[in-house]
Amino acid sequence: MDLKSKINLEKLPRHIAVIMDGNGRWAKQHGKPRVFGHRNGVRAVRETTEAAAELGVEYLTLYAFSTENWNRPKLEVGALMKLLVETLHKEINTLNKNDIRLQAIGDISQLPDSTRKALLDGIHNTRNNTRMTLVLALNYSAKWEILEAVKNLATQVSQQKLDPADINETLFSASLSTHDIPDPELLIRTSGEHRLSNFLLWQVAYAELHFSPVFWPDYNKEHLYQAIIDYQNRERRFGKISEQLVP
Ligand code: IPE
Ligand code: IPE
Ligand code: MG
Repeated sequence: MDLKSKINLEKLPRHIAVIMDGNGRWAKQHGKPRVFGHRNGVRAVRETTEAAAELGVEYLTLYAFSTENWNRPKLEVGALMKLLVETLHKEINTLNKNDIRLQAIGDISQLPDSTRKALLDGIHNTRNNTRMTLVLALNYSAKWEILEAVKNLATQVSQQKLDPADINETLFSASLSTHDIPDPELLIRTSGEHRLSNFLLWQVAYAELHFSPVFWPDYNKEHLYQAIIDYQNRERRFGKISEQLVP
């Protein structure tokens, strides 16, 4: 039986988040510069997006550039920003054809003008699509996002628009950049690293974590299917014991 048919479509995660990692090591394996890995990573983005949409996943968030990634060599950062512009221009038609809406989380204001413009155009041009939302995490870090939310709530308190006693999980979630996106049930990280690298720290509090040894440019639909099957075989207890769970 093929992997896709083993997936229970009734129990799909609504939101899958992916830390796309291993482009540089993949390029090194092929004796090429790191940028070659990033270029080949675009194919994996396309394939993963298509597979998730075909299955009926509602939200797919891809970690494309972290706040910490600015610390990479200038040449690599520049190439990544340029690749983003190129890819956004090339892929917007496909997103529209597939009824996929683009969104972004992260500090967009700090991106180079051309990257920010391509991103905002893409978001605007796909805003009415409803089949799936593709969220790009760009210049994103979870600690930055949490601090922004804290500052926002503190301002409201200082202006006496908010009573600190009313700050609860729902209000805090609503203050994050992911306010209109459900928390991911499944988080995938490729390349064999087992860490979160400042990604969605609040939102993944109860996500199932799936670590794949595959370098991102080699990631394909079958790998995604495997991650979903793995997720569906987990028992999500949320603090309870097995016997309390309704089958
Ligand atoms: C992920 O691949 C892409 C980005 C972080 C932009 P890396 O570039 O981190 O590749 P490795 O981890 O060095 O192999
Ligand atoms: C995390 O990958 C960021 C993205 C995938 C965009 P990194 O490769 O930057 O993370 P570390 O440095 O290994 O933690
Ligand atoms: Mg990496």
